[in-house]
Amino acid sequence: MTDCCDAGNLFSVTKANTPVGKKLWFDGEFFYSLTIDNATYSIFPQDTPLKHPMKKCSVVGNSGILRNSGCGRHVDQADFVIRCNLPPLTSEYTKDVGSKTQLVTVNPSIIEKRYQNLLWARRAFVDSLHVYRDSFLYMPAFSMMHGTDPSLRVYYTLMDFRANQSVLFANPSFLRNVGKFWRNKGVHSRRLSTGLFMVSAALGLCEEVTIYGFWPFHVDLKGKSISHHYYDDILPLSGFHSMPEEFLQLWVLHKAGVLKVQLDQCA
Ligand code: CDP
Repeated sequence: MTDCCDAGNLFSVTKANTPVGKKLWFDGEFFYSLTIDNATYSIFPQDTPLKHPMKKCSVVGNSGILRNSGCGRHVDQADFVIRCNLPPLTSEYTKDVGSKTQLVTVNPSIIEKRYQNLLWARRAFVDSLHVYRDSFLYMPAFSMMHGTDPSLRVYYTLMDFRANQSVLFANPSFLRNVGKFWRNKGVHSRRLSTGLFMVSAALGLCEEVTIYGFWPFHVDLKGKSISHHYYDDILPLSGFHSMPEEFLQLWVLHKAGVLKVQLDQCA
């Protein structure tokens, strides 16, 4: 992971890795690029604000296997907790998924669908972020053409409201290299799931990685049926991700002792 993807330097877009005039090739769109102008450059941080290596990291996927897992306390014991796609963290879920967050991903489509593209739901959006305290919002602003505007709107909304959270724009080179890495290992899908991108980042940034809520199957280890997410049962678009293939790779890493996949209930 370090050789292919250099999460320490390339995880997010910074002034150091993306100077004015650089052509940023989008990783999810063929032959589409954006040349960085002064205005865009000015909103990038100088360097990555993540202090690495970090010691213990938890990456929390959204699988229904987390329900009644009692893993919340374990998740929160890590120094750095990564979550995916602004998941609900209300009190009914805390004992299973924890309450701490240092970085949470935001898919631009959530901004469109849940927050009316921030055209008139800006206060509601900022209020909804309180559960993530002072975490980073990690957004793939330069992956698909239609993701750039919502990501910039999130950036300016947080600035306007002086919110506690700040945005990190995903570096398309990092995402592209992580995609290639897993393709070479046999993961074939249109795009990796958000969770696998985050596990890959954690492996490059943290000494010890434990992952929770990664179980893309309809039944748990005892054969009891479970929902797709810990908070709802909405399935992903078919054919877009290949989560069972991804899981197999994560299991290989677990067996090799590279990371820990937590599937059982936590003691
Ligand atoms: O947007 P996406 O479908 O990638 O993610 P999500 O449904 O918000 O869930 C976050 C991540 O958890 C996924 O990207 C997967 O890596 C993981 N996940 C899983 O392993 N099994 C599930 N049943 C659901 C999610």
